[in-house]
Amino acid sequence: MEIREAEPKDFPELVLMTEKEGWNYTEDDFHWFSLVGGKTLVAANQGEMIGMVTVFDYGDTGWISNLLVRPKERGHGIGGEILSECKRLLKGKKTVALFSYERSTGFYEANEFKIDIEAYLVSLKDRDRIQGRTGSVIGTELDESMIRMDQECFGYERRKVIKELAKRGMVLKPEGGDGFAIVRRDPVEPSVGPVISGKTGTGNELLIGALVLAGPNAKAVVLEEGIKPLKYEERISRLYLGAPLKIDRCRAVAFAGLELG
Ligand SMILES: CC(C)(COP(=O)(O)OP(=O)(O)OC[C@H]1O[C@@H](n2cnc3c(N)ncnc32)[C@H](O)[C@@H]1OP(=O)(O)O)[C@@H](O)C(=O)NCCC(=O)NCCS
Repeated sequence: MEIREAEPKDFPELVLMTEKEGWNYTEDDFHWFSLVGGKTLVAANQGEMIGMVTVFDYGDTGWISNLLVRPKERGHGIGGEILSECKRLLKGKKTVALFSYERSTGFYEANEFKIDIEAYLVSLKDRDRIQGRTGSVIGTELDESMIRMDQECFGYERRKVIKELAKRGMVLKPEGGDGFAIVRRDPVEPSVGPVISGKTGTGNELLIGALVLAGPNAKAVVLEEGIKPLKYEERISRLYLGAPLKIDRCRAVAFAGLELG
């Protein structure tokens, strides 16, 4: 088996592989990962692609996402080998972190990762009923203070990612308050994140307004349980290797997305 960097000609096949997992990527998404500094690797056996992963460089922190092994190849150490290649690439980082669905957490724990925090993949429960809850949320431009807030809240520097997310989507803030949310109105996978609250209490309103504006089926990854208008779809764990990551639980409302942390 060889592990090599993915080329654009591999992207259609990667889309098919991820589609089977329900991840809803398009070829554009893989181009976009490269644009923000992500490196997608593929594992291939005699020319057949059997696994993949995307690695992001956030300064002191390395981020791993999209680790996937074709179903028929699972359980033979391939996932472990791809993960070792990621660790090699990210050697020297203070922390290596990732998100995992509950069903895969055991795999990462078997590979020395420790659970840091629990988060939840959510959507709106009854979108039609709360359409009007965008009143206190206004559109704005991304500025330096928001990039700083993102780093303070989540513990890693990812200027390029935040700038490109803002370019591709909409930036919102609470009227008269600080904090911000980025909305991605994507036809395939609309999403919201990061969401950062200024004053306590304004963050959930900002999140709800952003989910309404993102459109039907929009998703976010939130830290708090029991926010009433939300449908909790899946539990997600953040895991890490090395130094624990900082997180400001008073202000962090939603992560930037499953792949971006
Ligand atoms: C998670 C995944 C990448 C693992 O790949 P794999 O090739 O099957 O994993 P490996 O064979 O290298 O397993 C390595 C170790 O983890 C263990 N392991 C694998 N999956 C596990 C699980 N779900 N729970 C507990 N342990 C698990 C194996 O027993 C093995 O331990 P051992 O070396 O002590 O025997 C693969 O199952 C997959 O693609 N899943 C679907 C996509 C996904 O959810 N990816 C994770 C993104 S969050």
